[in-house]
Amino acid sequence: MTAIDISTRPIPFVSGASGPAGHFDEFCDRPLEFMARAYKECGEVSEFDMAGLRTVLMVGPEAHEAFFRAPDDQLNAAAAYQMMVPVFGEGVQFGAPPEIERQQLRIQYQGLKYEKMINYAALVAGEVEEFIKDWGDEGEKDFYEAFTDLTLKTSTHCLLGSELRYQLTHEFEELYGDLDRGLDPAALRDPYQAKESYRKRDLARTRLQELVSHSVRSRRDRGVVSNDMLQIYMEAQYEDGTKLTDHEITGMVIWFMFAGHHTSSNTAAWTLVEMARNPQYFADLHAEIDALYAKQKELSMNALRDIPLLEGFVRESLRLHPPLNVISRRVLKEFTYKDYTVDVGKNVMLCPHVAHKLPDYFPNPDVFDPKRAAPENVFASIAFGGGKHKCIGNAFALLQVRAIFCALLREYDFALSQGPEDYKEVMPTLILRPSEPCRLRYKRRTH
Ligand code: HEM
Repeated sequence: MTAIDISTRPIPFVSGASGPAGHFDEFCDRPLEFMARAYKECGEVSEFDMAGLRTVLMVGPEAHEAFFRAPDDQLNAAAAYQMMVPVFGEGVQFGAPPEIERQQLRIQYQGLKYEKMINYAALVAGEVEEFIKDWGDEGEKDFYEAFTDLTLKTSTHCLLGSELRYQLTHEFEELYGDLDRGLDPAALRDPYQAKESYRKRDLARTRLQELVSHSVRSRRDRGVVSNDMLQIYMEAQYEDGTKLTDHEITGMVIWFMFAGHHTSSNTAAWTLVEMARNPQYFADLHAEIDALYAKQKELSMNALRDIPLLEGFVRESLRLHPPLNVISRRVLKEFTYKDYTVDVGKNVMLCPHVAHKLPDYFPNPDVFDPKRAAPENVFASIAFGGGKHKCIGNAFALLQVRAIFCALLREYDFALSQGPEDYKEVMPTLILRPSEPCRLRYKRRTH
């Protein structure tokens, strides 16, 4: 006779599953609305069906903490993120054995060390000056596009060096876009299905490898040694003394660009939209930035720490519009949370967009409040994840976005050119972004 474990309750199942696809189509069409509905209907723990892949959504700081504290051999990131493998390449990050992934992550860290970061603020400010030099006294722009372009340049410049920055051709951007479009929510289920967008993703990966390998060869032939990530990758050694192959170097480049680019560009776009939706703060923002430039002409890492209102804007934008909303793990060993048991083979998922609207931690959650106090529970805000896989680029991302706004607000005022509600949240790939057009007006300040 089998004993019945009365301490375990069945996980509430979200309504509306249909046939073998279950909730898959609704999730792919409207992932954020679907996860909000799952939480509203079932509470802190809910289960849904992604075309056969049972997935458990966990919401709230207690649940987040249990998720982030679970060991890798129980809740596993690599198994859940296999859709990244065709993008970064076999043998890189989640396509590599855990021991190699750990060593690759250690190599990535080297580009984000404090002594590297102190150079980045000035580089970003220089890029912004270049970016605004032809703007004139006033005009209008699509800032989703503009920030995508700007942060591709700032990230490439800071992390991969001047050489690759100035080789950023139209082809590079196209290839990068093809990789990006290969990461739709459906890839979570099967990144290898026969789809035109996935075919283009694979072609783009191959071509990018040719371009990066060419750069590496040319540096080696000319004996050039630069102070950037590419150099770090070229010189890095695994613990057994072997070096990264060109395939791995390309994967490391794509991995870092992917992790940092759209996440930062959308944070910048939402921050600007929220500034223009809340123009009552412009006078104080300008005063804060003017005081900063009055003390020093060049932006420094330290100066960027002393701008609380701007910081509040960025933090609140990350709360209301977190770029990454599917934080996922595969259950490799049975996982228990409170009265619930999640079986091996299922996925467990967190969604910052849902979690950041819990009124117990964020009173009046739909109100944008740049002066909102951070919740005491560190697991309430999860825009950068938590635990051992927490974002290693968060300091760089914040530095970059703050540096962009210091340079922009020093010169210009901004206003919406569409209705405040016409800037909608959309998630065609795994990153949340504003809908297009995302147009705003700018006007030179009279100091
Ligand atoms: C606003 C910007 C950013 C946001 C919102 C963000 C968000 C996140 C989140 C939520 C995770 C955890 C994923 C998980 O646990 O499954 C993560 C991990 C990571 N992020 Fe970021 N990120 C940002 C910028 C960056 C930048 C600029 C870089 C690099 C330059 C970067 C590099 C990474 C890496 C390498 C990981 C994986 C860490 C690991 O697996 O241990 N991120 N990021």
